[in-house]
Amino acid sequence: MPATDSSARGATIIGWGSYLPPKVLTNHDLERMVDTSDEWIVERSGIRERHVDGTTIGMSIEAGRAAIQSSGLSPADIDALIIATTTPDKQWGNAATVQDALGMRCGVFEINAACSGFVYSLVAAHGLIAMGATNVLVIGADSLSKITDWNDRNTAVLFGDGAGAVVLQSCDGPGELVAWDLDADGSAGPILWADVGGYIQMEGKEVFRRAVRIMVDSANKVLHHAGVSGDDIALLVPHQANIRIIQAACDRLGVDMDRTAVVLDRMGNTSAASIPLALDDALTKGRIAPGDLVLLVGFGGGMT
Ligand code: UT7
Repeated sequence: MPATDSSARGATIIGWGSYLPPKVLTNHDLERMVDTSDEWIVERSGIRERHVDGTTIGMSIEAGRAAIQSSGLSPADIDALIIATTTPDKQWGNAATVQDALGMRCGVFEINAACSGFVYSLVAAHGLIAMGATNVLVIGADSLSKITDWNDRNTAVLFGDGAGAVVLQSCDGPGELVAWDLDADGSAGPILWADVGGYIQMEGKEVFRRAVRIMVDSANKVLHHAGVSGDDIALLVPHQANIRIIQAACDRLGVDMDRTAVVLDRMGNTSAASIPLALDDALTKGRIAPGDLVLLVGFGGGMT
């Protein structure tokens, strides 16, 4: 069911926040670790620096706290917590630890849909609201630095750590999540994967090709379900993997780069955190006004 059911209870984003761990790793730092150059990394990916050494739980607590504070609610008002992550600190109980640290008492769970995890979680949160929840905290958090092989130049230059969060609240009428599309293609799993306890592995070129195609496909489906076109989008908030992937997708969607949120130069690819980090940056800078249409689109391992 791709378009939001207009008879279901609607939802709106009422608060947001983010967190980046303090340690910054620049491209020049990486030049001392692997055979690479700042010039190559900037030209091929658009990334200049990334934050590392965060923990998924610690970053989630900070981003979640900021989002609750910005919503004007208190932790006791939250009915459910969802954390999107592909790098949990513990086998289970990550979201529960965050819940306890923030002083919430509610149902909690984690979603792993790799870099698409935040958009999957937003749709799941909307489902909870349709079934009666009032306030849902959704956090996207990943500490990819702990599953990155810092001796492998194919991956080490791309990834970073961070967390972003939003509070979703029920509202009268159809709400502000107007359409959605979730998809996955398990046959493409072998081009981007990590074994439990292992490092990120990928076939970069193939991931690149598919990423552009599936982002454009999914975005076009959602535009169609919403009955709008690329021209109507005030801001595109794409997964932050590579500036060339974003540019290629924007070209095909007819959305110019002025209407696109980009933070990857400062953060690298932070997986499930990348879309809420870019959204938080755009909201904080006043790039989104009430009533604006915003298109969130991601892709990730799985492939999701
Ligand atoms: O959340 C999803 C996660 N993954 C992605 O989104 C990855 C998608 N793919 C990409 O972003 C790009 O494919 C990369 C940035 C990974 C690579 O860019 P590319 O333009 O596809 O480069 P390439 O793999 O074709 O490599 C070009 C050259 C090769 O050398 P030769 O064969 O031309 O002599 C590589 O060995 O660059 C070399 N190379 C590097 N050189 C310096 C590969 N990695 C590096 C590096 N520094 N870090």
